[in-house]
Amino acid sequence: MLMTELITKKRDGGKLSGEEIRFIVDGYTKGDIPDYQMSAFLMAVFFQGMDREETLELTMAMMHSGDTLDLSGISGVKADKHSTGGVGDKTSLVLVPMVASLGVKMAKMSGRGLGHTGGTLDKLESFPGFNINIGHERFMENVEKVGMVIAGQTADLDPADKKMYALRDVTGTVNSIPLIVSSIMSKKLAAGADVIVLDVKTGSGSFMKTPEDAHVLASEMVEIGKLAGRKTIAVVTDMDQPLGSAVGNALEVKEAIATLKGEYAGDLLELCLTLGTCILTAAGLADSDASARAMLQGTIDSGAALEKLAEFVAAQDGDPNSVYDTSLLPMAPVHMEVPAETAGYVSHLDALGIGMTSLKLGGGRATKESDVDLSVGVVVHKKVGDRVAQGESLATIHAATEEAAAAAVAQYRACVTVTAQAPDPVPFIKEIVR
Ligand code: URA
Repeated sequence: MLMTELITKKRDGGKLSGEEIRFIVDGYTKGDIPDYQMSAFLMAVFFQGMDREETLELTMAMMHSGDTLDLSGISGVKADKHSTGGVGDKTSLVLVPMVASLGVKMAKMSGRGLGHTGGTLDKLESFPGFNINIGHERFMENVEKVGMVIAGQTADLDPADKKMYALRDVTGTVNSIPLIVSSIMSKKLAAGADVIVLDVKTGSGSFMKTPEDAHVLASEMVEIGKLAGRKTIAVVTDMDQPLGSAVGNALEVKEAIATLKGEYAGDLLELCLTLGTCILTAAGLADSDASARAMLQGTIDSGAALEKLAEFVAAQDGDPNSVYDTSLLPMAPVHMEVPAETAGYVSHLDALGIGMTSLKLGGGRATKESDVDLSVGVVVHKKVGDRVAQGESLATIHAATEEAAAAAVAQYRACVTVTAQAPDPVPFIKEIVR
């Protein structure tokens, strides 16, 4: 087989066979196919697309490019959750302990933040002593014993995606549905869960700018998951404004803890109840959405989910006291308010800009090597639709210095639109694709 022929076949709109797709993925992973040919192939896919059969073959070839996690020795239903990424997205810190406290085994490998989106691993490192590198044996032991693990990658999973994603990032080929579907689903399938729940974000702070594109991505991922024999559900959710109120690592951990204590009810809790309902019904642990929601709410009311979070933190070498006493978490020395210049209604919040404000405060990574200040970020007080009086605080900036805080106040203000008229409400949960 010649790579040149496969590139031209796809360029001219042809359909590739499973054998041809495996030749490309294996050859590129091993280094037999050079970056310049793979770039041309990815661009051909970008313009010509792939049908579902090709997307499934690509997903399976990528999944089998490295190790796969065998969770079959672990008792009970094993579930995993994935978000396509956004600003203020601390969902895993709330959802995973809720669901794990009800007996579902959650084995989750997460990543670090890059650019304007945060990463769960950075957030978890806000707990003093927390260890994200627990190794394969402890990973398996903790899933069985504690019921939940969130860690960095423990095995050489999906090396094809690592190479292909890095190449797509620099060749203008990220935003292609078959390439996104195969990238996300190959990793999730390699990680071994029986139930996969996907949170597909749409809006200015996400990859999929319109609900229509998000619908197509969600549907394709669900179909590929099902064809690969896993129960897969996708929820399309709004990412036009940050999720919840905190943006920044330790600040998001504090918000997650407050949510587990029942102190907050808003979009974050709604998302966790919705995703949790999908997991419990797919796992056969609840016979209706209403009973699943009641069970999940019960984990907050009884304190079981908060206890599960503390047990998980201790099992990964963190200080469980910091779950109950959040003054033990990193705290920025400077707090500065962002007063509203005019009265009215918040009609728009630029999620991407708010993520960048937190990044510039030191809360995110401009490159993979950057250090992160876990304590800094933004707490949003006024979300879209909220009424605001002149001089009232729109948000609080948490910064390392007065200068950094003052710069962030100006940046944050540019992310907020206040109008005399209240905006039309937009649904937060756009759709559930089962
Ligand atoms: N997230 C991934 O893991 N892969 C993509 O292609 C896009 C988002």
